Amino acid sequence: MRSIRNLKNLKGKVVLLRVDFNVPIKDGKVADDFRIRKAIPTIKYLHDRGAKIIILAHLGKDGSESLSPVVKSFFRISRLSKDDVFFFNNIRQFKGEMNNDARFAKKLAELGDIYVNDAFSVSHRPHASVVAVAKYLPSYAGFQLEEEVKNLSKALVKPRRPFLFILGGAKFSTKMPLIKKYLKLADYVFIGGALASDFLKARGYEVGKSLVDGKSDGIATLLRNKKLILPTDVVVRSSKKLKNKKVEEVGKNDSIIDVGEESLEKLAELAVDAKMVLWNGPLGKYEDGGDVSTKKLLQVVSRTRGESIIGGGDTVAVLSEMKLEKKFTFVSTGGGATLDFLAKGTLPGIKALD
Ligand code: 3PG
Repeated sequence: MRSIRNLKNLKGKVVLLRVDFNVPIKDGKVADDFRIRKAIPTIKYLHDRGAKIIILAHLGKDGSESLSPVVKSFFRISRLSKDDVFFFNNIRQFKGEMNNDARFAKKLAELGDIYVNDAFSVSHRPHASVVAVAKYLPSYAGFQLEEEVKNLSKALVKPRRPFLFILGGAKFSTKMPLIKKYLKLADYVFIGGALASDFLKARGYEVGKSLVDGKSDGIATLLRNKKLILPTDVVVRSSKKLKNKKVEEVGKNDSIIDVGEESLEKLAELAVDAKMVLWNGPLGKYEDGGDVSTKKLLQVVSRTRGESIIGGGDTVAVLSEMKLEKKFTFVSTGGGATLDFLAKGTLPGIKALD
């Protein structure tokens, strides 16, 4: 990828800058501005060298949401003027965006002299403002995109050992390639979140009313791998009460919402000994009171001496809330993009910058 550092003369140039400001909005306001803050160094760099900047961003899935809370938050944080930075409407509002339409991309490109992608977290989407536009303009990677690639690659190329990979969240079927890959690359792979229920079920345990994927082809082969670590106890909700139970005690009316105390303790020991911890996705069902183990583990990992790389929107939001962001080697802005990059080593938006 060409870096914006290589750009010689930016004075008076118009830069089309794709960022990912798809942030949580609550009561009409930005609830977590992590992604916005992470794009500021690139924007300041371009601005300080005399460029005019047109920001391309989306909010929500289908383009129906207004970017206005994001725009407000951006100008408050960056202290830049509206004369220097222009916001395009929510880019997903345009028909050509999500199908990577060449004609739409060409029209976009006519607005600028240079294209910069600083939107790692949307670079897994083959969309016009991420992929097709790069064909029509000299194209460069912004600082955050560079940082993401540099840091996440540490897990892919010669990781420091012992290397612990922690994976939470849901949807086993989409995460299967990733788990397979890290069973080769890492020394330990701990499975938490709803994913753990898929594995426990496949191992023959009762998981009651817990969320499971249903599509679990290939899971039996993974279960035989000695590097795979599953919770030995879990927190379950049955009616309104929460209870710590051994995995063999889970009943038909229970719903697993978090990793149990004993499992968390063992995981914390592995994290402390690890020279590299890579963690994606919460360990429990957050919205249902299953936030305890994630919060405790964040504290533990934040104090470890090894490298710690963390990603996945939900976990990162808690991390910001707990003000632990600076205690990690790297905090990824990506959700799906981080998982795809860790599985494939590249993304469509990165390839487009070649
Ligand atoms: C994200 O929030 O992960 C990115 O902005 C991508 O959003 P999408 O999943 O709606 O494409």
